[in-house]
Amino acid sequence: MASRLQNLLGIEIPIVQAPMTFIAGARLAAAVSGAGGLGVIETASPQGRADLARVRELTDKPVAANIALTMRQYDGIIDVLVSAGITSVTTSAGDPAVLTAALHDAGITVLHVVGTLRAATKAVAAGVDGLIVEGVEGGGFKNAHGASTMVLLPLVAALTDLPLVAAGGICDARSMAAAFVLGAEGVQMGTRMLASAESPVHAAFKQAVVDNDDLGTVLISPPGMPTMRVLKTTRSLHAAASGDPGDGLQQVQALYFDGDLEASFANLGQVSSRIRSVQPVAEILAEIWDGALAELEAGRVRLLAHHEGAIHAAR
Ligand SMILES: Cc1cc2nc3c(=O)[nH]c(=O)nc-3n(C[C@H](O)[C@H](O)[C@H](O)COP(=O)(O)O)c2cc1C
Repeated sequence: MASRLQNLLGIEIPIVQAPMTFIAGARLAAAVSGAGGLGVIETASPQGRADLARVRELTDKPVAANIALTMRQYDGIIDVLVSAGITSVTTSAGDPAVLTAALHDAGITVLHVVGTLRAATKAVAAGVDGLIVEGVEGGGFKNAHGASTMVLLPLVAALTDLPLVAAGGICDARSMAAAFVLGAEGVQMGTRMLASAESPVHAAFKQAVVDNDDLGTVLISPPGMPTMRVLKTTRSLHAAASGDPGDGLQQVQALYFDGDLEASFANLGQVSSRIRSVQPVAEILAEIWDGALAELEAGRVRLLAHHEGAIHAAR
């Protein structure tokens, strides 16, 4: 039995891999799509765009692309998507009205990433096919005053009947089950996918995820940039306190791929505190999807056990 979201995206498992500039390339996306989820290729970097064509050598399953709308680098992007056989796109960081109609004209499904109720209202008005609703606990670009997934997702679910994908704070069966209860039909994961076997980042970055705790990220707001949630390091704590990112924004590839965690800012979600091992993508997806229904049932059983215990105590 497939949900609306699974039918819309042509996927077996309603788990979407998040876009991450320089990281979300053909290898990671093909691993996710090959395992039955939706791999997403970033198009903010030249490498990402080249990977759109290359991914077809790795999988014939549906793969999506992400377009960061504020980057304004989307001239000609629709032709690139069509020739790569991409049938769904996630748009983020900007006004979805600028591209949704053109993507629809090309037969492409559009999910838009929102971090506030206001952005969700605008995206619905722009005619998108679904929303990715991301709370402030997620890694990467954020609204500094944004609500957590626990608050934002049910707010958006009350606003619209469109299919919703929950993002921010999701890494396992329990958090996927929670997302269903809050109104989503699927989940998107960034931090968990960053720390997968197929992720191209340096082992030191993956190990930082495994070692992190619940206090291990910080929001920084560099001038002229959106707020970002990043790994707590000497550099990021200084940037958070002073507002000055120094030369840190230029060196992100040295951090991602050489493993120098002080070279730049390591985008990372709070959920890193719940990820305790680096596993292959197929294993991660199967564990989460198979486990989510069991977690829903376990929650019901806990409630009933508590309820029966309370009745027994009252007697
Ligand atoms: C290492 C990393 C890099 C990211 N880079 C981007 C990016 O370039 N553009 C973007 O829109 N979001 C970016 N994100 C945010 C993700 O797309 C996603 O929304 C977020 O990770 C979801 O929350 P989670 O980390 O709790 O799973 C990044 C996240 C991480 C962890």
